[in-house]
Amino acid sequence: MTGPAYITTPIYYVNDRPHIGHAYTTTLCDVWARAMRLRGRDVHFLTGTDEHGSKVEKSAAAQGVTPQVLADRNAAEFKSVMKLFNLTNDDFIRTTEPRHEQRVQSLVKRLHEAGHIYVGEFEGWYDEGQEEYHTDTNAKALDFKSPVSGKALVRAKEQNYYFRLSAFQSRLERFYAENPGFVRPQARLNEVLGRVRDGLQDVPITRTNFTWGIPFPGHPEHVIYVWIDALFNYVTALGIGGDGAAGAGSGAAAGARAGASSNDLDLARYWPAEYHIIGKEILWFHAVIWPALLMALELPTPRCVYAHSFWISNGQKMSKSLGNFIDLPTIEQYFAKYGLDAWRWFMVTRGPLEATDADFRAEAFHETYTADLVNTVGNCASRVTAMMERYFDGLVPEDSERGGEWPARVRATVAAWEKAIDDFALADAASAAIALLRQVDVFINATEPFKLAKDPAQRPRLASILAQCAECVRIAGVLLAPFLPAKMTELEVALGCTASASAATTSSAISTVPVTPVTSASASKPATPFADIAAWGGLAPGTKLTKCALFPRVEAAKAD
Ligand code: MSP
Repeated sequence: MTGPAYITTPIYYVNDRPHIGHAYTTTLCDVWARAMRLRGRDVHFLTGTDEHGSKVEKSAAAQGVTPQVLADRNAAEFKSVMKLFNLTNDDFIRTTEPRHEQRVQSLVKRLHEAGHIYVGEFEGWYDEGQEEYHTDTNAKALDFKSPVSGKALVRAKEQNYYFRLSAFQSRLERFYAENPGFVRPQARLNEVLGRVRDGLQDVPITRTNFTWGIPFPGHPEHVIYVWIDALFNYVTALGIGGDGAAGAGSGAAAGARAGASSNDLDLARYWPAEYHIIGKEILWFHAVIWPALLMALELPTPRCVYAHSFWISNGQKMSKSLGNFIDLPTIEQYFAKYGLDAWRWFMVTRGPLEATDADFRAEAFHETYTADLVNTVGNCASRVTAMMERYFDGLVPEDSERGGEWPARVRATVAAWEKAIDDFALADAASAAIALLRQVDVFINATEPFKLAKDPAQRPRLASILAQCAECVRIAGVLLAPFLPAKMTELEVALGCTASASAATTSSAISTVPVTPVTSASASKPATPFADIAAWGGLAPGTKLTKCALFPRVEAAKAD
């Protein structure tokens, strides 16, 4: 894959407080965004807040504030969480921002004018919590209960504007057949195909029973349904629907037009999204309604909607009443004990990315931390740097074997890592780097440098072994930087690296920012391409290394 890369999280409801679910999806996107920046891609990573709808209106009323006050307060909290978690989103969209509201109105107007929207009466089974209608067949399959809250669905009737989703039945079916990777994982695609096969019904896209929303153009007594409003965030944030772009048949065309605004250029550059990362409960909107809206607007469709499963907690669905909710204060306790990078690591390597839910348990967190970070990453880095200090005064020696078998192994590891990142198989990418470090441990145990050190005749062999180990640790550190950005910065400092992979994960433009103090000469060096930073031979002989201890052991007793 080359060219710009756009990745999005769902936009989070402001009537909720941030918790593990929000942190999880956003961290997945962050790791991918960082990995792609490291590879030199021009990444745009979007997250934000979903601020309209009757739920927000009701929560605000219950708290005695206006919906805008509630939205401002909670959006600020979500924004601060992004910083707290070291998440590198390039933009944060709020659906109450004028840039979003205006563009949604212009896109809806366009759909209306093109005949994709009509006025009519709608009747169906309504999930009040989710603000979602279900068809008769689907409601029956759900036993007339909300799949999310378990509360009874209610029969509801409204005079509304509808989106002619039914008109896209065959076009969508063809689209899924031609793009089997559009919905992932496969189990989720199968669900979508099954439901689509039952037949698509038109969807009401306005409401009249509350006012906290974007007015329907020309008919302000109707507000645009919160889900339609929300889905559009993925394009309004790029400027689509703004002046000049609303009528564009394709992003590239919009950007190329004379006098295109900078927003249009963003649109041209980043749309369509490579990945919309979402939870499984909001798949229908993203996998069916969203591509149909885009088709109706003659805009390109995203490449992949990836719907992960859920974190449960101690074997049960998280709930406030059970007291097993992994909320922000709980997460902060993990930061305090294990560090932020360890939290990221557990989220990404043990999370519910595939079709089954993952159980969050303190013991599993502790075991993962100890096995992967203390005993593998930390131990390998400290072993190698300690021996280098002891036997070579910390100065990287010449390797007369020129890497031996390692350069080929490392090339295979880097290729496996890149493929895994392309496929959003983030845990596999992490495993590739961990496996390299485990091979280094095996190599040290087999070659026994501590014994060779006693024999002066073995000095050249000892030099090669340690130089090779240090280079492997450096490259593993490059591959781990998107997952463990703070700790891998520490490793780079210990290894005396001149080009920082960790810095490159936050912006491809600063990939040469040295970890050591910036001098004007080094600051003006050209960017180090990923192919070079991850290639064998980056650790020059004579480089000064210092012993590092990255992940302190945490006593199991303290982990409960
Ligand atoms: N506002 C809508 C999304 C609109 S996107 C155009 C919404 N918001 S939400 O605040 O409820 O966030 C839902 C998302 O949070 C899920 O899709 C998922 O990404 C994440 N999670 C919420 N609970 C979760 C778990 N228990 N486990 C993992 N992620 C889950 O729906």
